[in-house]
Amino acid sequence: MISPIVSVSRAGPPPGTPSLVDALEGGAVLMFPDLDFPLSRFEERFVERPFADGKAKNVNIRGPEATLRGAAGTPEEQEALRQVLIRYRRFAETLLAEHLPAYAGKVSFAGTSYRPFEVDQRKLSWRRDDTRLHVDAFPSNPIGEKRILRIFRNINPNGQPRHWRVGEDFPSMAQKFLPRLPGYSPLSARILALLKITKARRSEYDHLMLHLHDALKQDMAYQETAPQADVHFSPGQTWVTFSDLVMHGAMGGQYMLEQTAYLAVADQARPERSPQRLLAQALGRPLR
Ligand code: SIN
Ligand code: FE
Repeated sequence: MISPIVSVSRAGPPPGTPSLVDALEGGAVLMFPDLDFPLSRFEERFVERPFADGKAKNVNIRGPEATLRGAAGTPEEQEALRQVLIRYRRFAETLLAEHLPAYAGKVSFAGTSYRPFEVDQRKLSWRRDDTRLHVDAFPSNPIGEKRILRIFRNINPNGQPRHWRVGEDFPSMAQKFLPRLPGYSPLSARILALLKITKARRSEYDHLMLHLHDALKQDMAYQETAPQADVHFSPGQTWVTFSDLVMHGAMGGQYMLEQTAYLAVADQARPERSPQRLLAQALGRPLR
């Protein structure tokens, strides 16, 4: 099955839609076509040219102080961009509170990013090439028993969509790739943590997700022939998905905002639908 896109307009989801939490945990992308996130006249410059130092692919704010990283522009412009990101984080919090109240108080908000570059123009190694279908995994930041929930918004001023591909459901993908992945070594995981290559001990789940991410991106036959669908997110649309569960690739578009949030597996409505439990189920044993 290919990941469904579930449109949730102000009028509410279409009749017969299971709860949004159920759809989301089952691997859907929730798409909100008509939420407001206006930019002021001054802020419109941030979608007219990239305010980025060009060293990293994105500009972001991190931590309670919302320190801005990777931005370009005058001090006044950088402060205004920081305020846009702070406002976007609040927008994402409100969206979750209103539409996914089951997660209220359980989600923790991490980085907020401004992605001002055209997707196609990034020249990246295969590992960082997000046009290839993948599930998200963070090499230096073990995720353990947490889920990655992301809230995206296309802020392109010229009508240009954010073009994604979405792929097949996680269990079908895992069934194909799991047999090819190298085994987990608790000893190497401890060494990586001691050497501070990872910020915490890499669990077997983190190990499998990293290798899945790489194996998927390296398999060009899979990239071209696996079940997939094109999705075009128009400017003004906001979409929410578990990016550790939903196979995705970004094919085109420029100017987007993104909020990353974490949710503990145990705080899901149905923890058995997490990639953590789906991988354990596919292997027939708990993960180490
Ligand atoms: C990704 O998460 O793979 C990239 C999403 C995007 O830039 O649209
Ligand atoms: Fe991704």
